Amino acid sequence: TDPLRLGIAGLGTVGVGVVKIVQRQANLLAQRCGRPVEITAVSARSKGKDRGVNLSRYAWEDDPVALARRADVDVFVELMGGSDGPAKAATEAAIAAGKDVVTANKAMLALHGQALAEAAEAKGLVLRFEAAVAGGIPVIKALTEGLAGNAIGRVMGVMNGTCNYILTRMDSAGLSYEEAFAEADGLGYLEADPTLDVGGIDAAHKLTLLAAIAYGAKVNFDAIQLEGIGSITIEDIRRAGDMGYKIKLLGVAQMTGRGLEQRMSPCLVPATSPLGQLEGGTNMVVIEGDSVGQIVLRGAGAGEGPTASAVMSDVCDIARGIRVPTFGRPATSLDDAAPASAASP
Ligand code: NDP
Ligand code: HSE
Repeated sequence: TDPLRLGIAGLGTVGVGVVKIVQRQANLLAQRCGRPVEITAVSARSKGKDRGVNLSRYAWEDDPVALARRADVDVFVELMGGSDGPAKAATEAAIAAGKDVVTANKAMLALHGQALAEAAEAKGLVLRFEAAVAGGIPVIKALTEGLAGNAIGRVMGVMNGTCNYILTRMDSAGLSYEEAFAEADGLGYLEADPTLDVGGIDAAHKLTLLAAIAYGAKVNFDAIQLEGIGSITIEDIRRAGDMGYKIKLLGVAQMTGRGLEQRMSPCLVPATSPLGQLEGGTNMVVIEGDSVGQIVLRGAGAGEGPTASAVMSDVCDIARGIRVPTFGRPATSLDDAAPASAASP
């Protein structure tokens, strides 16, 4: 059987995690996908850097656009990051060259996902991004497959591991903001521009993708009401604790009489609730469906292994020939989206 051949652009936290899974789980992947999954070429900024994995069997491209166009690449795996620049240019080049794309890049998707998905779909290609939302939690699969028969009432949750890590370490270990931030950095949680994390923007990128999928609406990042954790002090956390609450950066997307509402902001949640007890880089997504009721998904929201695990879920779908567009079809405009019936929690 022909192998599925990957070209990986970006060999940082997530890219190296993907290389490790492809190398370590070759037999498992071949068995689950019905064909081998191989890496043929890779790209990153510094060729000589020791990344702790053996890359000697793969072709090297300095330019991710050239990688995306290679004849021996079936799937372009974009793990560089950045909403524009090389990530977008190479993704567009991959689609133009007839390659399926897997990416973890929620910043690019929140701003350009609609156009990229439509370009891919027009050519019969797929653009998949399980890793872009809530790290290792298969939340996109849950929405598009497991809950496919449900009208979605509300999607909410904690979707940024960095913020949750900082808030919980300041609370439980009494660390300063700076100390907790440095620990999150050491765990590979931070975006290249960490103001995206602490400003709530990264979590808002994720929420807007989930909202588009849940409600069949166009991706509309500008419509989100947004506030980050930058102004939260240790005193705020202590006062909340005295009253029996925790502070969480919480996102909510729901249909209201006025249309699709999307909010991302620090909120008080009861300390004894599942959300209140969410520690470290863990994420939690709560989905309400009209038939199923409430579903709670919890797991590692960031880091090498969990994020690479989600990337591989998309790769395996493509290897198996699953070619359903993630955003669904047809995508309606935000204003056109019909109000969904509220589900009971
Ligand atoms: P890193 O910063 O660790 O890695 C980025 C990689 O991209 C590096 O290998 C870098 O090369 C390479 N790169 C950057 N610019 C270029 C360029 N112009 N040409 C070629 N290569 C380039 O990022 P992460 O692995 O943490 O994140 C990657 C993506 O995954 C981002 O979109 C991020 O938002 C997303 N993501 C990350 C998660 C995480 O927990 N880290 C979780 C979920 C999603 P070099 O190493 O040589 O500098
Ligand atoms: N910086 C992100 C976070 C990575 O902390 O959640 C996972 O998307």
